[in-house]
Amino acid sequence: MSFHIGAKKSQIAKTVLLPGDPLRAKFMAENFLKNPKCYNNVRGMLGFTGTYKGKKVSVQGSGMGMGSLSIYVNELISGFGVKNVIRVGTCGAIQKNLKIGQVILATSASGDSGANRYYFEGLDYAAAADFDLLLEAYNIAKKKKIKTLQGNIFSTNTFYDDNPNRWDKWIKHNVLAVEMESQMLYTLAARLNARGLSILTVSDNIITGKASSSEDREKSYTDMMKIALELA
Ligand code: HPA
Repeated sequence: MSFHIGAKKSQIAKTVLLPGDPLRAKFMAENFLKNPKCYNNVRGMLGFTGTYKGKKVSVQGSGMGMGSLSIYVNELISGFGVKNVIRVGTCGAIQKNLKIGQVILATSASGDSGANRYYFEGLDYAAAADFDLLLEAYNIAKKKKIKTLQGNIFSTNTFYDDNPNRWDKWIKHNVLAVEMESQMLYTLAARLNARGLSILTVSDNIITGKASSSEDREKSYTDMMKIALELA
């Protein structure tokens, strides 16, 4: 039984791509999958299954933040036997030189998740991508001539914060960008014996204040999705 996903086990693929926005899940399913079928609309958090190059793949909205994502990832893995959970999302760069549209493969995710600290009784777990998925994504990108950056990112539960120096330490330690889901995705994938990877597109630069135009967004999201879909 699943509280938040109203589907039968057979309706969801072993590989699930997870955009935060449920309407992006719909867009991805309608534009990239063959014969997509919607299997979930509980709370409007749309999920679809179709095929890509003959392989069954699902796309499920995760919502924003680690609280929301953890509900869907827990249910997908524990309730539906999902093996690969692949986030396809956006992030705000904190390194000045990072351009809008840059695709990042998150090797690891630092963060401020209280739930993570709670799981590990106050100690700091290093939430990391599954290496095989990461390597495969890297090779796919290379073959498709999509330039990716690999590195540590930061997942936060607070989008709004009034500390102007908030990211200084993280910039100094080579953290590339900030988003709101990957730390928990990686922890849960490890904990529940699945494989996790976050593929991110820079939608804004928090330091320079630059943000993407809608055309930039469309094109670079397509790069990210191509990598994710090939992984299925
Ligand atoms: N903060 C957190 N998450 C984000 C951002 C940001 O600036 N941009 C895209 N995802």
